[in-house]
Parts: sequence; C-alpha cells; structure tokens
Amino acid sequence: MEGDAGASRLNPTDDEGSSDAVVTEVETLTGPAPETDPAPETPVASTGRPSRLGRGWLIGVAAVLLVGSAGVAAGGLFNIVQAGGKFGRAVVSQVGRVHYGGIRLVGTAGRDPAAAMSAIPATAEIRPNDKINIIGAAGPMGTMHVIRDLCQGVPGVTVFAGDLSDERLAALQKLAEPLAAKNKLTLRPYNPSKDKLPDKFNYIVLMAPVPALVAQAVQDAAPGGRVNIFAGIPAELTAGLDLDACIEKQLYFIGTSGSVLEDMKQVLAKVVSRRLDTNLSVAAVAGLEGAIDGIRAVEKNLLPGKILVYPSCRGLKLTPLTELGGALPLSDGHWNKQAEEALLKQFPTT
Ligand SMILES: NC(=O)c1ccc[n+]([C@@H]2O[C@H](COP(=O)([O-])OP(=O)(O)OC[C@H]3O[C@@H](n4cnc5c(N)ncnc54)[C@H](O)[C@@H]3O)[C@@H](O)[C@H]2O)c1
Repeated sequence: MEGDAGASRLNPTDDEGSSDAVVTEVETLTGPAPETDPAPETPVASTGRPSRLGRGWLIGVAAVLLVGSAGVAAGGLFNIVQAGGKFGRAVVSQVGRVHYGGIRLVGTAGRDPAAAMSAIPATAEIRPNDKINIIGAAGPMGTMHVIRDLCQGVPGVTVFAGDLSDERLAALQKLAEPLAAKNKLTLRPYNPSKDKLPDKFNYIVLMAPVPALVAQAVQDAAPGGRVNIFAGIPAELTAGLDLDACIEKQLYFIGTSGSVLEDMKQVLAKVVSRRLDTNLSVAAVAGLEGAIDGIRAVEKNLLPGKILVYPSCRGLKLTPLTELGGALPLSDGHWNKQAEEALLKQFPTT
C-alpha cells in the first residue's frame, strides 16, 4: 500500500517530555468527582516516573484523555485501567495522533493493565470471515483497500464499500465485482446517504479524514473490532469517543502514515505471487509534464484511481485510461504490462 510520508513530515510530533507508555487508572469516574473526594493517587507512567497527567484528571474526564494522550510519545501506548469505573460520557480523544503520531489506546474494565495489553492484536490484517466496512471506498485509496481485501486470500470476508459518490461507486462496482465473484467473497457497495447498514463490523477503515467518523465507528464495531484510521486526520484534531464502549468491546485503533521499505517489500511480494493486482488501481498515465495536472486532479477528486508518472515519456500530458481509446492494449480497460511496454516504445530514450 503506498504511503503519504510527505503528509507525515508536515505534521511533526512534539515528543519532548512525553512518555512511551502511560497507565491511567480511572476508577470512580462516572459523573464529576465531588469536591470533597480525597485526591486519587498520582497515575504513574510505566517508566516509574509520575506521568504528565499528575492530578489533573480531577478537572474532568474529558480533559484527562486529551491531556493524557498528548503526553504519550509518538508510537506510545495509552492504557486506560477502569478498575470498575465508567466514563459515562464521550471523551475528547486525540484521534488524529493515531494516524500521524502512531499512538495507540487500549483499556480494561478491570484493574490489571496487562489485561488491556493482552487484547492488542499481533497484526492489523483482516481476519477470516471479517465483516469489513470501508468508508470512502470508491476514492483512489479506498479502491486499493477493496481490491486488497478481495484478493489476498482471506476466506469468508464480506466487504461493505461505502461512498457518497454514486458515480465513483459505479466505477468501483464494475472493477471489484468480478474480483469478489472470482474469489467467492461478498462485496456490498452502498451510499451512506441513502442506504442503512444493519451489521456490526469486525474491521472498519476510514478513508475520509473526518473525526466524527471515528466516533461512529466505535458504535458500529463488533466486539474485538479494529478501526483503521487510514485517512490523514490532522494530528491536532480530536473526537468525542465512547471509551466505555471501546474498552468493553476491546476495540483497537490503528493508523499509519507512509510506508517503510519493509511494507513495500511485502506489497511487491503480493504482486509477484499474484495476490494483489496493483494495475487495477491505475486511472491515468502521464509524463513529468503532466504531473502537476495529476496533483490538481487528485486535489479535485477528478480521478477514481492512481496516476502513473513515466519520466521517460517526455511531453505526455495527464491521460486518463478512459481517453486512450485503442491506442494501447489495455485489458478490459485496465492497465497492464503490455500497455506499459507499448507506451514506453512510443517514447524511445535517446
Ligand atoms: N495511511 C497512508 O499511508 C495513506 C496514504 C495515502 C493516502 N492516505 C489518506 O487516505 C485518504 C483517502 O485518500 P483518497 O486519495 O482516496 O481520497 P479521496 O478524497 O479521493 O477519496 C475519499 C472518498 O471518500 C468519500 N467520502 C467522503 N466522506 C464520506 C463519508 N462520510 N462516507 C462515505 N464516503 C465518504 C468521498 O466521496 C471520496 O470518494 C486521505 O485522507 C489520505 O490522506 C493515507
């Protein structure tokens, strides 16, 4: 899966003074703490030092998590130990930092922090028989997720592919239905502005950078569900999450920005072993001269897929595959190696 490392660099995380792990006990948090309550013990970070939370949590539960997760270093873990207590309300949470800061939130309704950690999944992969909901499924990245989930040999999955654009949904359906049929999996395209979804989902992927969608995902997730905040929600944005539900259902949020070399090797291995066909995601080709138009097309949502830029194709303007006519040997309208070779032959290097 390609990444957006550039976006990541635009959102540096301030790590100064933050902790790699914070364990917070939230006993007796239903309702505001009476002023006469004895102050609780200072929550302690796993390093043994007092955490930045200090005693600040008495000022309100909502502030606790906002402050708490701001105090977690990039890639850090925020462990909420409810010890029988409940928040009883939505809690302002730094959902943007799940994607751009790589922070993770876990929790347990009991007293043992290890119980929360034992629910952390070993991988972020989809599982057999998962009901998957891809929100924003018909954009370029959503399309890649749909193709990926239908092609990587995980049995029994059902992919709900939601998008607000009927036009994009129709293009996605044309592309993905044959894949679902070939692999004996179920694809359910839908438009959330018109269709109601009856199911709870084991895996929810967000392609639209809207914090409220994270809060909705908590409601729509099945126990043990995973919520992949794939969309680049800016690091400073928050959402009010039902953390009681998150903890009760043992939900796990994931989100990454950009790819490391190991990710690229994994994708390449899937392409080589024919478990993933990245050609299906190609919507247009261009030379360097067409690259700026390509960026504008992405900004304006003009293309439903990816743009391949061939530097050796000097003067090639941004060309959607749909406008190629019979000029290149596409297979059923899709990009392929033969089409690439034919294109490169038209622009011989000197
Ligand atoms: N994690 C990574 O490494 C990585 C890499 C590339 C892109 N991204 C992120 O992926 C996201 C998607 O990229 P894209 O190029 O496909 O974007 P896009 O804007 O072209 O597509 C988003 C789609 O979501 C749909 N949509 C918007 N709100 C919706 C809603 N409430 N319900 C259902 N559908 C809705 C839109 O109609 C659109 O088709 C971006 O936020 C981008 O930052 C992440």
